[in-house]
Amino acid sequence: MTRYTGLIDAYRHRLPLPPEAKAISLGEGRTPLIKLDNLVRREGVEADLYVKFEGANPTGSFKDRGMTMAVTEAVHRGAKAILCASTGNTSAAAAAYAARAGIKSFVLIPEGKIAMGKLAQAVVHGAVIVQVRGNFDDGMRLVKEVSENSPVVLVNSVNPYRLQGQKTAAFEIVEALGEAPDYHCLPVGNAGNITAHWIGYTECSGAGTKACLLCNGNCQFAVAGGQAGGKTKRPKMVGYQADGSAPFLRGAAVKDPETVATAIRIGNPQSWDPAWIVQQESGGWFDELSDAEILACQRLLAETEGVWCEPASAASLCGALRDLKSGKIPAGSSIVCTLTGNGLKDPDIILKSGAPELIQVDAVRSAVERVLVDRL
Ligand code: F0G
Repeated sequence: MTRYTGLIDAYRHRLPLPPEAKAISLGEGRTPLIKLDNLVRREGVEADLYVKFEGANPTGSFKDRGMTMAVTEAVHRGAKAILCASTGNTSAAAAAYAARAGIKSFVLIPEGKIAMGKLAQAVVHGAVIVQVRGNFDDGMRLVKEVSENSPVVLVNSVNPYRLQGQKTAAFEIVEALGEAPDYHCLPVGNAGNITAHWIGYTECSGAGTKACLLCNGNCQFAVAGGQAGGKTKRPKMVGYQADGSAPFLRGAAVKDPETVATAIRIGNPQSWDPAWIVQQESGGWFDELSDAEILACQRLLAETEGVWCEPASAASLCGALRDLKSGKIPAGSSIVCTLTGNGLKDPDIILKSGAPELIQVDAVRSAVERVLVDRL
């Protein structure tokens, strides 16, 4: 057994990094692909349904895949500081990987709208935290402007190295299943991750995609990719948004996005054009879900399978189940849903949704036994 040392070491031959670039890694990647047999039975659907639990990454979200690449590339170029706008997870990952690299991180977050765990991560890793009186889209506009004239590297997903790191999730899925699934479902905010997955699957298929800003369809990794010679099918890519924050459903930017799924509270997606290319090339679609549906699915998953993801992440599974039940996704399909972030990031949302039952007892054996007897 060799020690797993992160996705750059695992996939360097399929990543656009100079060979001499030293990987800045926290051992990200190789996340669990969990088959949801309990949930499928309970919901009465027929499918090979999996979740890729990206909450198991070192900072608790899929952002680590992109950040190891962006920070490695930035440090190789001599960067001393990185900058991002974030709904929370990108800032957590940026802060952690900057700490690992020994450089500075500056993070812009929307006022009052980021989950507590994510804010604590930026604090503990020593980021300079700037709260913007505005939303994520305002922050994004600002970091793009500022990074043009400052000696900082922008590490939002407009940085193409981010998507190159994130594409490795698709590699892992193809390796685990032996082929791509029929459908891949993701929550969509900026739409970087759905684009990155499509790039990854496309490389495994031996093809190229116009959604890749680096290669524009002429993929240098395509022939090297994939299982057993590099020819696998590609999935239909399905993107789900919260209905108060659903520009892909409205066909235009949303001015004041609102959702409890704060991670995807984004009205003006940065990967707008690539995401539409993904939709067209893959034959998938976008759809929207209410906050209530998303939160109910988060609970359902946690209670039936023991997997706790954050609210935004539950959108992928919630949408997949709804589309399976309606027949839009045919029965018997293989489906992978990305669970983008860990439920521990946002414990407030659980505790706020109704007082938990805490049973008070005296510190005696009989009192505890009575609780058990009553409930077994
Ligand atoms: N799920 C989670 C948990 C996220 O944090 C994000 C994005 C998404 C889904 C959407 O991914 O933007 O690639 O479509 N979070 C960013 C952030 C915006 O700042 O952490 P996307």
